[in-house]
Amino acid sequence: MKPLWWQNGVVYQIYPRSFKDTTGNGIGDLAGVIEKMDYLSDTLGIDAIWFSPINPSPMKDFGYDVADYCDVDPMFGDLATFDRLLAEAHKRGLKVLIDWVPNHSSDEHPWFLESRSSRDNPKRDWYIWRDPKPDGTPPNNWGSFFGGPAWTFDEKTGQYYMHQFVPGQPELNWRNPELKKAMLDGLRFWLDRGIDGFRMDVIGLIIKDEDLRDNPPNPDAPANLPANDLFSRLHQVYNMDQDDVHPVMREIRQVLDEYNERVAIGELWGPMDRWVKYYGTTGDELHLPFNFRLMHQPWSASAMRASVEEMEGALPPFAWPNYVLGNHDGTRLATRFGGQSQARVAAMMLLTLRGTPTVYYGEELGMENGVIPPEKIQDPQGINLGAERTRDVCRTPMQWDATEHAGFSNVEPWLPVSADYRTRNVAAMLNDPTSILTLYRRLFALRKATPALNVGSYATVPTPAADCFVYERTDGPDRYLIALNFSGEAQTLSLFGNGTCLLSTQVDRTGEVDLQALSLRPHEGVIVKL
Ligand code: NOJ
Repeated sequence: MKPLWWQNGVVYQIYPRSFKDTTGNGIGDLAGVIEKMDYLSDTLGIDAIWFSPINPSPMKDFGYDVADYCDVDPMFGDLATFDRLLAEAHKRGLKVLIDWVPNHSSDEHPWFLESRSSRDNPKRDWYIWRDPKPDGTPPNNWGSFFGGPAWTFDEKTGQYYMHQFVPGQPELNWRNPELKKAMLDGLRFWLDRGIDGFRMDVIGLIIKDEDLRDNPPNPDAPANLPANDLFSRLHQVYNMDQDDVHPVMREIRQVLDEYNERVAIGELWGPMDRWVKYYGTTGDELHLPFNFRLMHQPWSASAMRASVEEMEGALPPFAWPNYVLGNHDGTRLATRFGGQSQARVAAMMLLTLRGTPTVYYGEELGMENGVIPPEKIQDPQGINLGAERTRDVCRTPMQWDATEHAGFSNVEPWLPVSADYRTRNVAAMLNDPTSILTLYRRLFALRKATPALNVGSYATVPTPAADCFVYERTDGPDRYLIALNFSGEAQTLSLFGNGTCLLSTQVDRTGEVDLQALSLRPHEGVIVKL
């Protein structure tokens, strides 16, 4: 059967604030993405763009606090600009996915303004309101991901509302049929405009335990947690992944299925047994529950191999895998994995495993964690839980060229440009035949041109070299060997037969190789056609 675009394609995540500013306010915008469309389609050759939220928002969590599900924030443009962007993308064969934030809105959303106006307002039940406990404390012990309790008391109506993120992100009540309908209509609004799918924010949170029971304490919580980190002190049992989320997932999926070939990707992080259920029992829920497992492992050949094998083993036959190594909530690969050399190994792994890869903007340059002076921290997580938790480090402006502000903007950007931008930028790296950008371009092209590498089957190749992760991708008679050296030592693998090296992470060798003594240099990965 012919693979669908979201199976054999590569998704590229754009954090719109940080991609390209055309209005001169230091914040990226949609016109900037249009300007860079050829970079996406021709230079990189990715298949789909996913935007972090572009809806109107007070930006208390940088767009993940939505004040109108059916519009574009003026900071980013307007609906007409979005339509133009979509047309420019589609003209080039690129798909466009947008972020959908169904668990919570902004506290400035008109629905919430109505809901909080009185206890008998018709929209009161669109959010989660509860009486205080008899002693006046919050209704249960849940904590916010961003510090403090998951509840804020509303003086006017004498009840608490729930928010598992900042108080400006009140949680929607998906058990209310009218709210559910309004949210599903919001999906249709964008599908009717022609978008190709959604990335659904914290989708496993939308249904909570009906009785909102206390979460049990987590005895393994680190001892040095900030005092206000109530969230990490608890096991997340009753606030996410409830059994009755699945009928709702099916309803969401049915909306997408009213249209042709639209994709539902969901943000989920629970354990494997909970995660795999989001594919649905017959493939009738999410197409791709995001798989963040590789992000949370130690960077070693054995940990990566074990994680890939565990996921391959857990998937039902109808389920298509996917991998994420970095996003706007984490750290940059080159920083996390101990340097530029291993960032290349990570790129080769991500783009040769079986499953849809998502690549975060700037990873193709090997961008490193930004250095954010404490007074410039913007992220509520960093502000509330400590500078070392700020996600700003991975949200610094895209580095286009060596001019001031890295070609991102003509004024000082909302977050500082990283100091290495004069050499680590698109313009400089495009002309360097061995740059990491060249490596990414070669990997994108090879993956696209080679069915074995995109939809082919996966098999681990056992090797006594403990620091190497070796696997084969196969499509009928076409076989490819991927050998990745996670160490700073040279390695020699004893396999069998001969092959042709198509690409090295150092982008400096091709040609016949003897697999009985396959030499890998320190931090080198290779793709060999068998
Ligand atoms: C997950 C998003 O990826 C993150 O950036 C955001 O802060 C939370 N959900 C809340 O929407």
